[in-house]
Amino acid sequence: MAKQASVLSEAQTADAALRARARRVVPGGMWGHLNAARLPEGYPQFFASAEGCRVRDVDGREYIDFMCSWGPVVLGHRHPGVEAAARAQAALGDCLNGPGEVMVDLAEDFVAMLPHADWAMFQKNGADATTSCVTIARAGTGKRKVLVARGSYHGALPWCSPSVAGVTAEDRAHLLHFEYNDIASLRAAVDQAGQDLAAILVTAFRHDMGRDLELPTREFAAAVREACDAGGAALVIDEVRAGLRLDICGSWEALGVRPDLCAWSKAIANGYALAAVTGNDAFREAASKVFVTGSFWCGAVAMAAARATLRVARETDVPGHIRTMGLRLREGLASLAHQHGIAIRQSGPPQMPLMLFDADPEFQMGRAFCSAALRHGAFFHPQHNMFLSAAHGPDDIDAALEAASHGFKAVAELDGRAHP
Ligand SMILES: Cc1ncc(COP(=O)(O)O)c(C=O)c1O
Repeated sequence: MAKQASVLSEAQTADAALRARARRVVPGGMWGHLNAARLPEGYPQFFASAEGCRVRDVDGREYIDFMCSWGPVVLGHRHPGVEAAARAQAALGDCLNGPGEVMVDLAEDFVAMLPHADWAMFQKNGADATTSCVTIARAGTGKRKVLVARGSYHGALPWCSPSVAGVTAEDRAHLLHFEYNDIASLRAAVDQAGQDLAAILVTAFRHDMGRDLELPTREFAAAVREACDAGGAALVIDEVRAGLRLDICGSWEALGVRPDLCAWSKAIANGYALAAVTGNDAFREAASKVFVTGSFWCGAVAMAAARATLRVARETDVPGHIRTMGLRLREGLASLAHQHGIAIRQSGPPQMPLMLFDADPEFQMGRAFCSAALRHGAFFHPQHNMFLSAAHGPDDIDAALEAASHGFKAVAELDGRAHP
């Protein structure tokens, strides 16, 4: 009987049928954070297409997208200029015996755009870039200890994975921790590193899953810079998640603090697989000495896509537009929550917002909100910072707020509260 019911439900949607097939040939049906079992009820696992700020699942349902592929899509899905540049390069070749001219062009673009950068090198994933930064910092300083903020995400490799499965203590032997935005804990970790401090690795802002987002204070950013200068260590900013959304010149530029090394990925090629490390002259020799490489790191198509993405970012105020749309969303959510008598907290930069419900430690309200909003066509996340893109316009935000109003109704119904 039970089997029959599950067979029936599997047959109901294309998504369910694909999940059933995946469970047989993909461990767990899907790996990591993208496993839809971690998401609220009703979230699709499989997607068919996307355009602008809308994604479509394999059952043809369309959603206004507030995850943007978890960051990479900063100009909107299938941005015409980026797609044209990628197609033109693909017609010539992608995976050649070495880099194309486009690699030098792109490195020049990065160096011209980023005040801290004298050079750039390219990889594929964010973790390639953060790992390369750590390797270069150690090679350049001859030291071993790397300070990271407790709870910060820098990738899924053994030295930085949030999971302990398959990871040994030795993989993390030279990591020391401090609390983001807490200068006393930073200094204590610096003292612990003593003469062996190679780098302080810090995200552009605090965006740990499931807790309020926090922008760095000016004092904290200055203290990180000072500690690196005093200890002869590299200040590494992990821009993988925030890059191009806050400030195209670098997220800490407005704080008056420049890194020695910077890790980039996600948004830099608007969805094409590319990562970059940028650095200053102090670390140029170290960067040329370390052996870092990957079979696909020279892929020319992603580099052409990145050039087009950076061009749009330079020529139009991408962070400014996204911020305006993010503020419209934030104000709309605040007003809806107020109408429903529901207490929420919104945090982070409006370009990468997070909305949490008060007194919701298990995220049940957040999940109910998201499920209902999803049914009405908006793809939000209950725990992870979201992402807006340059393709979101006022009408899209307003349509998403309409979907969100159903989310608030669902939350009000959770505890039997009447709603207007
Ligand atoms: C801040 C930060 N650093 C590094 C990474 C790792 O990037 P990737 O998943 O492309 O390896 C991520 C991914 O979400 C990230 O958010």
